[in-house]
Amino acid sequence: MANTRKLRLKDAALKRLLYVVLVTLLGVSLLVVSLRTNTTPGLNRLNEDLSETIDVQSFSGMLNLPKLNEFSTLLEKQNQLPPRNRDLYPKLAKDHITIVLYVHNRPQYLRVVVESLSKVAGISETLLIVSHDGYFEEMNKIVEGIKFCQVKQIFAPYSPHVFTDGFPGVSSDDCKEKGDAGEKHCVGNPDQYGNHRSPKIVSLKHHWWWMMNTVWDGLKETKGHDGHILFIEEDHFIYPNAYRNLQLLVSLKPIKCQDCYAANLAPCDVNARGEGWDSLVAERMGNIGYAFNRTVWRKIHWKGKEFCFFDDYNWDITMWATVYPSFGRPVYTLRGPRTSAVHFGKCGLHQGQGQSNACIDNGSVNIQVDDVDKVANIRSEWGVHVYHDQAGYKAGFKGWGGWGDHRDHQLCLSFAQMYHSYNTSLDVMG
Ligand SMILES: *[C@@H]1O[C@H](CO)[C@@H](O)[C@H](O)[C@H]1NC(C)=O
Ligand SMILES: *[C@@H]1O[C@H](CO)[C@@H](O)[C@H](O)[C@H]1NC(C)=O
Ligand SMILES: *[C@@H]1O[C@H](CO)[C@@H](O)[C@H](O)[C@H]1NC(C)=O
Repeated sequence: MANTRKLRLKDAALKRLLYVVLVTLLGVSLLVVSLRTNTTPGLNRLNEDLSETIDVQSFSGMLNLPKLNEFSTLLEKQNQLPPRNRDLYPKLAKDHITIVLYVHNRPQYLRVVVESLSKVAGISETLLIVSHDGYFEEMNKIVEGIKFCQVKQIFAPYSPHVFTDGFPGVSSDDCKEKGDAGEKHCVGNPDQYGNHRSPKIVSLKHHWWWMMNTVWDGLKETKGHDGHILFIEEDHFIYPNAYRNLQLLVSLKPIKCQDCYAANLAPCDVNARGEGWDSLVAERMGNIGYAFNRTVWRKIHWKGKEFCFFDDYNWDITMWATVYPSFGRPVYTLRGPRTSAVHFGKCGLHQGQGQSNACIDNGSVNIQVDDVDKVANIRSEWGVHVYHDQAGYKAGFKGWGGWGDHRDHQLCLSFAQMYHSYNTSLDVMG
């Protein structure tokens, strides 16, 4: 009896303490907001925008996010800027499909992609978000030159590329060679094959996951967006009919393919160009020009732990081996019988500019665009051809490694939580 009472008293005291702490925190954040709105007039627009979004950094302590350096703090601020070209395109079409283009540092490729996008029918109706892994002037110049639609640039503030001395970048006490951890007193955990982390390699998966969380849950531009978002990369050539075809696929999906979670612009076999049949195709999720809606994103986000702990540095293989299989049903995507996007890169993503093994492919591409690729070429009366049990990565694959460091797992989990930070419980992700 007495014991329970004592516990209850303790409980009550704890609650009071918690209350005081919360009120103090609230006070401090109000103060911060009011201080912000009183800064220089030139920054007013930026500050207005900032006050409307959740300030990630103020929660970073709770979230275990690395401390932002001066440069990454600037990037975080850039991310709050409104889209460009709103004067040219004041209104987005009601049922627009937002396009997210994620890039690293291959300007010679980006130029090709942007040029292809400029010819896409319907592009002016939508918002293009360019998500950058790292900050590269030449990449920015290309994006700043876009005049064919609204454009918003975002920069991954925790990219290993913007941290020069310490995690998520390289730090001097990181383990490097196999077996280091035992003898030397270095930091880091090896992957399943005994190798230690390479910041340049892990940046790919981090960027993808940060970008996904940010475009779905962290931007006011997409907050109310209940349609699809299309994802493309810096080495994907987009055909002029891509957007109109995608709109058709999205509207046909609920009718023609109940098991389809997404729509794709290209076959999942990256070398294929389509069958040319008079039929829609349902197949495995592909990684070129894939589009899905918020319902599907929630399902993916829910599997954040699976995504973040799987020892493979490839986001797409991680999805195929862990996240999609966890949905419990085969995960199909719907596409047309002729591709509307192709992957053209020859250089690997890690061979950026200015390195010893600099990539010499100058991005000159010779992709044939026929008349049939210039207008929507999907028919609503078509049936669906389903490819069952296609080969490819699936549940049971143990991963290519490169993702064994506990710090990367933690950073990845923090990305999943950063826009849900009022609830710091890991359970937000199931
Ligand atoms: C989103 O897409 C999924 C899969 O196609 C579908 O089941 C769901 O109803 C869609 N959600 C909305 C809100 O349209
Ligand atoms: C790019 O490379 C191709 C073949 O490798 C060559 O024909 C072309 O002239 C090059 N273009 C530029 C701008 O260097
Ligand atoms: C926080 O998450 C827990 C576990 O999912 C849930 O029970 C609780 O209701 C959440 N709290 C808020 C305020 O959303």
